[in-house]
Amino acid sequence: MTIHVTDDRHFELSTDHTSYLFNILPTGELGHLYYGPRLREPNYANLEANEFRMVMPVIAADRPEMSLDHLKQEYPSYGHGDFRYPAYQITAPNGARISEFAYVSHRIIAGKPRETAFPASFGEPETVDTLVVTLVDPVAELTLELSFSVFAAVDVIVRRATFRNSGQQTVALDRALSMSLDLPDSAYELYQLSGAWARERHLYHRPLTRGVQAVSSTRNSSSAQHNPFLALARPGTDEQQGAVFGFSLIYSGSFLAQAEVDYYDTTRVTLGIDPFEFGWQLTPGTAFSTPEAILTYSDDGFNGMSHNFHRFMTAHLLPPHWVHTPRPVLINNWEATYFDFDQAKLIALGKQAKAVGIELLVLDDGWFGVRNDATTSLGDWQVNVQKLPDGLGGLGQAIHGLGLKFGLWFEPEMISVQSRLYAAHPDWAIHVPDRRMTPSRNQFVLDFSRAEVVDAMFEAIDAAIVDAQLDYIKWDMNRHITELYSLALPPAQQKELGYRYIQGVYTLYDRLTRAHPEVLFESCASGGGRFDAGMLFYAPQAWTSDDTDAVERLKIQWGTSMVYPLSTMGAHISAVPNHQTRRITSLAMRAAVAFFGVLGVELDITRLPEAELDELRDLIAAYKAQRSLLQQGVLTRLESPYDGNATAWQVMRADGRTGLAARYQVMAEPNPDDHWLRLAGLDPAAAYLVNGQRFMGDELMHQGIFIPQLFDIRKAREPSFDQTHAFDFTARLFTITRIEEASV
Ligand code: GLA
Repeated sequence: MTIHVTDDRHFELSTDHTSYLFNILPTGELGHLYYGPRLREPNYANLEANEFRMVMPVIAADRPEMSLDHLKQEYPSYGHGDFRYPAYQITAPNGARISEFAYVSHRIIAGKPRETAFPASFGEPETVDTLVVTLVDPVAELTLELSFSVFAAVDVIVRRATFRNSGQQTVALDRALSMSLDLPDSAYELYQLSGAWARERHLYHRPLTRGVQAVSSTRNSSSAQHNPFLALARPGTDEQQGAVFGFSLIYSGSFLAQAEVDYYDTTRVTLGIDPFEFGWQLTPGTAFSTPEAILTYSDDGFNGMSHNFHRFMTAHLLPPHWVHTPRPVLINNWEATYFDFDQAKLIALGKQAKAVGIELLVLDDGWFGVRNDATTSLGDWQVNVQKLPDGLGGLGQAIHGLGLKFGLWFEPEMISVQSRLYAAHPDWAIHVPDRRMTPSRNQFVLDFSRAEVVDAMFEAIDAAIVDAQLDYIKWDMNRHITELYSLALPPAQQKELGYRYIQGVYTLYDRLTRAHPEVLFESCASGGGRFDAGMLFYAPQAWTSDDTDAVERLKIQWGTSMVYPLSTMGAHISAVPNHQTRRITSLAMRAAVAFFGVLGVELDITRLPEAELDELRDLIAAYKAQRSLLQQGVLTRLESPYDGNATAWQVMRADGRTGLAARYQVMAEPNPDDHWLRLAGLDPAAAYLVNGQRFMGDELMHQGIFIPQLFDIRKAREPSFDQTHAFDFTARLFTITRIEEASV
């Protein structure tokens, strides 16, 4: 059993390698005791030890050592002496912001069914138990349920809070985070994934220091700027070893991920919906549930943390149907044609795609309304017959006739002022009456908190799916919300819009994926601007970045893989010079990077020279031959692009029998230092063939494979040497095959 309750007041949650302990405080609130490597036999008297502090508000005059300001807690409140930032805050009808949630009961539920109205984790009774602790505030007439789902085999605990109003008056929820965790010291470095358009999820870190440090999004999208994730790692932690906590939020809107180090060197980690611009009117008889937060701990460095996240998301978050379905190799026409295409061009692209082994053609932006650039027609999801005279149905038939699957781009949440939709429903665009509207990419955002808006988009997309027999949808979202206000909400509920908007997005995803379970969805937001666990619940893959440059992708894919599995990362081979950087890299290099993800092609292959087409055909065949490894295998990061000129990673099948490693070198190095590629996670006592050479696992991991320099300078001086050949931007691939069982 993963959940134990002792003495009616000590709760012990156990995963295979971690323990999570909390207790009931004398006030009835929940105290936190421990999270970390598994404890065999907790000594509760020790874990509950608590220092007497001068000048502190205490819980009662006869408990001078007990102050909420320094006790570790599970879901702390504000107003009874804890001056750190709380997990939640309410405003009662009389204006008071005090609450006192005291324990009344708990229950344990085996298994967690998949419920699709809102993204949430799920699992069979053998994989997850949930402890729900019920607390009541009799004055506010509110119930608080704190739930802890224990996914033992993947060392993950998922938390969520639910507030219920059992009284007669509306109570305002001003803050409702998904989790709070008080750690006993602050000797950690905080890792975050931050960036911007075209450089999403770069890895940054800084030592924790006293006070508040946070990443957040106020954009109503999880955002390219910061990802809803943070990790705390002991100094010295690297990819293969060290203690690290990872936190990720299953939500796609504004978030706050914060670490606060207090005056006694304890660290409070909180994660949830950003309280800035959030508010909820909890009316009598209703409930509000926070999104879920994922907590994990590993002793095995960042790879250990990532393996936990990857295994958890694969088994307990991604849509089950798609997890083991091989994802098609696609061609997307965006960088091939931008808005300049017609039916003949698409069919030519499709023919060539089929010839090189591509399986799915995705028609990107510009197929609808009168959209020939980014200024018009969002919202008018009817085909442009000037470009596509046979309609979506005709094009779908033609593409399917070539033996390809067919996919289409939508941006369902958006509206152009120049559109029939705007002419009919100007009030559907989010704006504040009599105020300036702030355009972004010439477009505005539809009010997805309104059911009629979601209905209209469902009808339009559903009709297109049926008409074109779509196999795939790329759901894009290319701007953040400004002038956040809904014409459909009363004044007191305006701060609900951010959450209600995301709920509308989830509702549309839910309806479409239930009506068309065979359609594969890929989420996108100006590239990877909404790459989060909430989106992945419906759309099992996401466009990682609009930056398709192979060198840039090393940092982006490395950062993304901190949290998200390979099967979620769209990675395309694009043209050179690259459209974002003008960099010229070889096809082999571009493919070797795009192989580590869900492979696509995004260039005009009708214009490729024959020799490159042949090479592309071979590369796609090689990817398809290894597809289940590259999409489902266990990724281990080896050499970080943030540390120097080289990047390396490997992917192994779960059974450890075969794998592929890649080492990329960005710039050529004259007379370089010695380089050895050390693999990881192999069986030290088993024999492996690496690119045909025999090694024992121990040598591969401890000494590594010698990496000779890319070129011998003496050869470059020979007259026969191709003087145009450059050695920047190179990739080497290593196939790994286990050939002999471990010798004892
Ligand atoms: C965004 C996406 C791109 C492409 C364009 C189309 O930028 O990230 O992949 O779909 O929109 O306008």
